[in-house]
Amino acid sequence: MPKVVTLPGDGIGPEVTAAAVEVLREVAPDVLIEEHLIGGAAYESHGEPFPARTRDALGDADAVLLGTVGGPQNSPWNSLPRNLRPESGLLALRKALGCYANLRPVRVQPGLEHLSPLKPELARGVDILIVRELLGGVYFDGDRKIEGDTAYNTMRYTTHEVERVAKVAFWAAEQRRGRVTSVDKANVLEVSELWRRDVQALRDRAYRSIHLNHEYVDSVAMLIVSNPSRYDVIVTENLFGDILSDLAAVIPGSLGLMPSASLGDGAGLFEPIHGSAPDIAGQGIANPAAAIMSAGMLLRHGLKRSEAANQIDRAVALALRAHPTRDLGGTADTETFTRGVLDALVSSPSVG
Ligand code: NAD
Ligand code: IPM
Ligand code: MN
Repeated sequence: MPKVVTLPGDGIGPEVTAAAVEVLREVAPDVLIEEHLIGGAAYESHGEPFPARTRDALGDADAVLLGTVGGPQNSPWNSLPRNLRPESGLLALRKALGCYANLRPVRVQPGLEHLSPLKPELARGVDILIVRELLGGVYFDGDRKIEGDTAYNTMRYTTHEVERVAKVAFWAAEQRRGRVTSVDKANVLEVSELWRRDVQALRDRAYRSIHLNHEYVDSVAMLIVSNPSRYDVIVTENLFGDILSDLAAVIPGSLGLMPSASLGDGAGLFEPIHGSAPDIAGQGIANPAAAIMSAGMLLRHGLKRSEAANQIDRAVALALRAHPTRDLGGTADTETFTRGVLDALVSSPSVG
């Protein structure tokens, strides 16, 4: 029996994770689901954001479904030593799982162009996969310090780190439209110079059928919203990918429509890209679509059950049409939307 560890976390995390778990139980009733603590919730009961009990539970997990971590701007959690803050728990989790490639799809489903603030002709047909490097760059290792009036972080990458994430991007492009855009800041940063050189060399060595181009991150920030259809797969380093993916959420219409899959050495980690949304937490109005679609990615990539994943994608598209949530200009609350997904699953059961 496959085992999935769920980590609801903070803010709207528990609300959207509960919705995703209901859907997961519906399409994969045999999966064993075990819930554990992460983030601020874990700090409150265990004094650390990624406690040993949670870490131990990952040992025999086939996949991990995460909600969100973190508190509001004025949360006392933000004044803790950095290693005790909720976000550090998430970073430690990613590291523990060895998940170096974070897949963030940005898709406008046919018939859902009206949810986008972009003109329908710009939003129509958009299907981008952002592959964000997740275990390197300024986020991890390297020298970092804040002392008096001086602070620094270090952006550092090795060829090994660049190649392993680029391979995932090329592999993904092979199943898609065969195009990869590598995003960097090679006109200023040495790290980007290495990134660009290594991605190009790997393509020339092993992925000759892929069309690869290189663009600067500032220009991509403009083009991704003004002409999103020009992109197929985007591969980029950790911080650029973090920022570009929130920006790309504008295209489908909300952060609540952005799921992700983080893949690497062992069990995959599946999580919405949005945060704990303290401004709406506890009100039952969060859009659970990103969490539900993350459960879909868990089925596809983590448990290799693509038919169940397709079922979820179809049901979410139907529910978005019938019951848009408030972030999308509708009135549905979390429960109504989730019920819409479950109803759609029941009315169009699996074909296989
Ligand atoms: P956020 O993503 O939580 O919220 C940004 C805006 O989007 C808010 O107005 C919020 O209400 C809205 N929003 C986000 N998800 C939504 C959803 N599913 N449905 C409806 N509206 C939604 O970003 P923030 O406010 O900058 O961060 C809040 C906290 O979350 C911080 O502590 C931050 O560190 C943390 N965070 C965690 C993750 C994660 O766990 N992966 C990701 C980003 C931010
Ligand atoms: C995300 C978040 C995280 C990140 C934070 C909360 C550590 O913004 O998953 O996009 O920066 O990776
Ligand atoms: Mn982010």
